[in-house]
Amino acid sequence: MDQFSLLDAPASDPRSRAAARAATLRREIERHNRLYHQLDAPEITDEAYDALFRELTGLEERYPELRTPDSPTRRVGGAVLPYLETRPHRERMYGLDNVFSEEEWEAFAQKAARALPEAGGEVMNAWWADPKLDGLACEIAYENGVMTQALTRGDGEVGEVVTEAMRTVRNLPLRLAGPGPFPRRIEIRGEVLMFRKEFEELNRRQTELGQKRFANPRNAAAGSLRQLDTAVTASRKLRFLAYSLGAVDAPGAKPWATHDALMASLKAWGFDTPPEGRVCRGADDALAYFRRMEAERDALPFEIDGVVYKLNDREAQAALGFTARAPRFAVAWKFTSRKAETRLKKISVQVGRTGALTPVAELEPVSLGGVMVSRATLHNEDEIRRLDLRENDVVIIQRAGDVIPDVLGPVLEKRPAGTRPFEFPRVCPVCGSAARRLEGESAWRCLNVACPAVLKRSVTHFVSKAGLDADGVGAKWVEALIDAGRVKSPADLFTVTAEELMSYERMGEVSAGNFVAALEKAKNEATLARFISALGIRLVGEQTARTLAERFRDMDELASASAEELMRLPDVGPEVASSVRAFFETESNRELLARFRAMGLWPKGGESGREGALAGRKVLFTGTLSRPRDEFRRMAEAAGANVASGVSRTLDYLVAGENPGSKLDKARSMGITVLDENGFLALLGGKGAD
Ligand code: IVH
Repeated sequence: MDQFSLLDAPASDPRSRAAARAATLRREIERHNRLYHQLDAPEITDEAYDALFRELTGLEERYPELRTPDSPTRRVGGAVLPYLETRPHRERMYGLDNVFSEEEWEAFAQKAARALPEAGGEVMNAWWADPKLDGLACEIAYENGVMTQALTRGDGEVGEVVTEAMRTVRNLPLRLAGPGPFPRRIEIRGEVLMFRKEFEELNRRQTELGQKRFANPRNAAAGSLRQLDTAVTASRKLRFLAYSLGAVDAPGAKPWATHDALMASLKAWGFDTPPEGRVCRGADDALAYFRRMEAERDALPFEIDGVVYKLNDREAQAALGFTARAPRFAVAWKFTSRKAETRLKKISVQVGRTGALTPVAELEPVSLGGVMVSRATLHNEDEIRRLDLRENDVVIIQRAGDVIPDVLGPVLEKRPAGTRPFEFPRVCPVCGSAARRLEGESAWRCLNVACPAVLKRSVTHFVSKAGLDADGVGAKWVEALIDAGRVKSPADLFTVTAEELMSYERMGEVSAGNFVAALEKAKNEATLARFISALGIRLVGEQTARTLAERFRDMDELASASAEELMRLPDVGPEVASSVRAFFETESNRELLARFRAMGLWPKGGESGREGALAGRKVLFTGTLSRPRDEFRRMAEAAGANVASGVSRTLDYLVAGENPGSKLDKARSMGITVLDENGFLALLGGKGAD
């Protein structure tokens, strides 16, 4: 990229040269970001891109004043806000009125035409149509082409300031593309979304961590955007699709005559826009568009819930104006939702890792939007009572974003004779001990620390990837040891010998050796973050564990932290704080910790964690590296990365050594950044293992 340096550096002092070079780098990097993420047409190798990025990071470190708001280095997040500030919208963000049928759509269009008789058929027949995106509306302000503010819709009048969080959204231009001139100030409105794939991955993670699942991609997007710690937002891979304008301040500029001209400008400025947007002419065309989107909605990578029609002529839009609620020139035609009727055969109750008794609806299998379903979530006792769900009822189920549907309620007319209200068990269905429902909680819990169901899940979690990651200790063996009464807590695992294991059926010398070695290694290599996460403290997942491990030196320090102290940390609210306190106040947990300490499993904190060069990134190693794989894994984790086990679209980097095999091909085909060992070390800032 040497061709830029001289041209861009008319001044000769080092600082001005650095400033000019940084400006060039920012432009170039954002151009390559766009080529890569939006256009799927990279022009340079990943190594060359990384070199540009590193050069910019280096300049910004040397001259912090060069860290401009539109710098691509800001996209990794890291700003932590004390609370979400609110600010008024310059122009109100209206909702949309809904129609549900062809007749209602036509009535809407005719009403608009009657309100504006002078406009003529040509104008009043042309509607811009695009999918109604099921995310959350957001408004981004640009001043002279540079992104300066982002507000959520809020109540339409006042929104929350999410500027820093939106900077981490990869497909949002931080600076408008093209030569300009740009409006003095312009607000671009659109939808923040999470792709279905990301959403499912996130929920899988949340479940694994015993954390709250998101009900649908929209809630997940909202939860991810409204974060105080923008590193969390950065890790969630949100996208922004632009579809309209807010306030515009562009003296002397000619306004767009049509919505399609506006959409073309938004694209030219570097925004992604809703797919398939086009002008429809007349009711038949509008209907054809609706039918096609309805048929193709599952092929899109994100959720849509209808089609939005906007009068294409912007002068006519302005003339029609707004009702108290919504524009008169735009409407949402909603899809009918995906519901089905089936029989609820049985309500079964499962026991989770934290002992929560979770009701599950066992259904007569039924096809729902092309997927056969036989189970649905029922959440908790209150929900079952609220719906008055009974075994043998005919129920209506609905699939929202997730594959697992919700039960909306019973069809009372079809209720068979002899059903009885469901009685939620007061005892654990596995160990039979009394369950309790704690103050302020919706779940009944089995509080028996020795309950085999709870024990199996908690010990399995302890050695899982979310815990100490003792690869070689299979769930099957954990279960066998628990069933045999040999393991009653995760600490017992470390006392199991290879000889002992070999007395179990199907346990050979090699796997017995692996089992013991894996635990020994996990014990020696445990970081404080992994250890905390392994303990399975309710509401404390990997992310929160990392936060705690950064703040506290060891478990003693964490144990003596007050709830107030804990709540000062990002990510930690009153519920998490009280769950951490409750953990340490429980006698059996203190005993467990004492055993870990005695056996030398007592890691120290202070990891670089979230602030690391790879914060929130997902890395996978493949092939033969110059040092043991685990050493690399630890380096990646110390830099804040998560180490993945397979290639998926959520992967950020594949680090390939000698003879890499099929993972490399797969990563290449998915356009994932591939690094060699040196490239990886360079990402860490040139530092190798200590
Ligand atoms: S245009 C004046 N286009 O749906 C019209 N809105 O339920 C402004 N929405 O508040 C909005 N997809 O946030 C438009 N393709 C799309 C949309 C869309 C989703 C949102 C929008 C609106 C909400 C109403």
